[in-house]
Amino acid sequence: MNIFLPPPYNILYARRLHKTVRRLVPDSDVRFLLSESGSGKGAALVTAVAYRLAEQHRQIEETLEEFQLSKEQLLEVKKRMRIEMEAGLRKKTHQSAKVKMLPTFVRSTPDGSENGDFLALDLGGTNFRVLLVKIRSGKRRMVEMHNKIYAIPVDVMQGTGEELFDHIVHCISDFLDYMGIKGARLPMGFTFSFPCVQTSLDAGMLLTWTKGFKATDCEGEDVVLLLREGIKRREEFELDVVAVVNDTVGTMMTCAYEDPNCEIGLIVGTGSNACYMEETKNIEMVEGDKGRMCVNMEWGAFGDNGCLDEIRTVYDKAVDELSLNSGKQRYEKMISGMYLGEIVRNILIDFTKRGFLFRGHISEALKTRSIFETKFLSQIESDRLALLQVRVILQQLGLDGTCDDSIIVKQVCGAVSKRAAQLCGAGMAAVVDKIRENRGLDHLDITVGVDGTLYKLHPHFSKIMHQTVKDLAPKCDVTFLLSEDGSGKGAALITAVACRLREAEQS
Ligand code: GLC
Repeated sequence: MNIFLPPPYNILYARRLHKTVRRLVPDSDVRFLLSESGSGKGAALVTAVAYRLAEQHRQIEETLEEFQLSKEQLLEVKKRMRIEMEAGLRKKTHQSAKVKMLPTFVRSTPDGSENGDFLALDLGGTNFRVLLVKIRSGKRRMVEMHNKIYAIPVDVMQGTGEELFDHIVHCISDFLDYMGIKGARLPMGFTFSFPCVQTSLDAGMLLTWTKGFKATDCEGEDVVLLLREGIKRREEFELDVVAVVNDTVGTMMTCAYEDPNCEIGLIVGTGSNACYMEETKNIEMVEGDKGRMCVNMEWGAFGDNGCLDEIRTVYDKAVDELSLNSGKQRYEKMISGMYLGEIVRNILIDFTKRGFLFRGHISEALKTRSIFETKFLSQIESDRLALLQVRVILQQLGLDGTCDDSIIVKQVCGAVSKRAAQLCGAGMAAVVDKIRENRGLDHLDITVGVDGTLYKLHPHFSKIMHQTVKDLAPKCDVTFLLSEDGSGKGAALITAVACRLREAEQS
């Protein structure tokens, strides 16, 4: 250790001082250096450091300001979402529309009369699951579920379609054994959380993979057919695939089973998307003009025609360019769990390059894609965590920083997740106001069924999103209902209704 001493420096005094210090701390090697005009230089140095810090602070603020959206900007996002919704619904513009507004052939929400045992598959969220869902109607009304989670290795997600479906069928086979129901030939609902063009409840042509999937030979194909072929190839059991269901629709149905006012489904998880009950007469791609049908908006693709470019930052563009589906799902990439951590990481890399963070050193951890999973972002932003704990989380991720670094990282996470929640709220405001106008109402009371890891885990996302909907759609009273196990249960409910209708037709 070096200790600087200011003059005047009395020799005798100095000797005594050295001796005393050595006696007091015999294990330390302390050297005394004479400082020349120390206080003046020191003051200058302190000023210089303070100036550098203030300048850094200013630049950090300036960068993060790009993530702050004014009410006017959010109203503009809402307005543009509405324009894109109309384009997706109209026959003339549907082909070129980015927000596809896909008909689902689900024409009503559950009424409690659903009954029977069903299988459900849930593919496209954080986990792949197979479920057995027992639904009982009447006085004993209840839903009982058994499920098993299976991993889908990345090489299967991004291998061939045949490999993917063989793997899925293998998991179903394991589940049927596990439950002891291999011979039962139960009706099945397939929750497939990707954009599908449906011509009926049990046919869905995959438009394009989203999120982390990229299996070959599936786009443009009917996924129900791919599943049936997989089952045939295995020659081991039979299944009756009755419905293909988007996770938003499953979530809406599950919540509607508890609350009949629920006519919207929202997912904010790995990806983000919404569905709602639209007037059939407005869905020009579907024949008929009576009643309502649930539309899978596929709102993740909002902005793919450039209409959000004014608010996209260089970091959003970097995340998009590095992704598996560059140019696509631009709104989703500003909102959902699979991408928020990547936006954060890109900002942190930039701040490190500019010398604001981690002493300017870009570690291997910071170079690692997807390092900030939703659960870490949620932990970092938790108000209950002291700064020291944030530092520990970062250290666990391999990001060794000071407490000051932790403050900046938390600030970055906050800016990115707040914008995500507000953008999601702006989209939802467009949906509820459209439903209100569809029904010619001055005021609408409606419930949104919600699911997804980001929505469930993040400490602030839901609150900010709810507030944004309130601010941007003041004529609507929107209740958000958290869905329990939404997509699997919902697929079973839809399958139950379809089976009942089928039986009614046959008799
Ligand atoms: C992606 C999919 C969409 C799904 C959403 C949430 O946006 O394209 O179908 O609903 O993720 O899982």
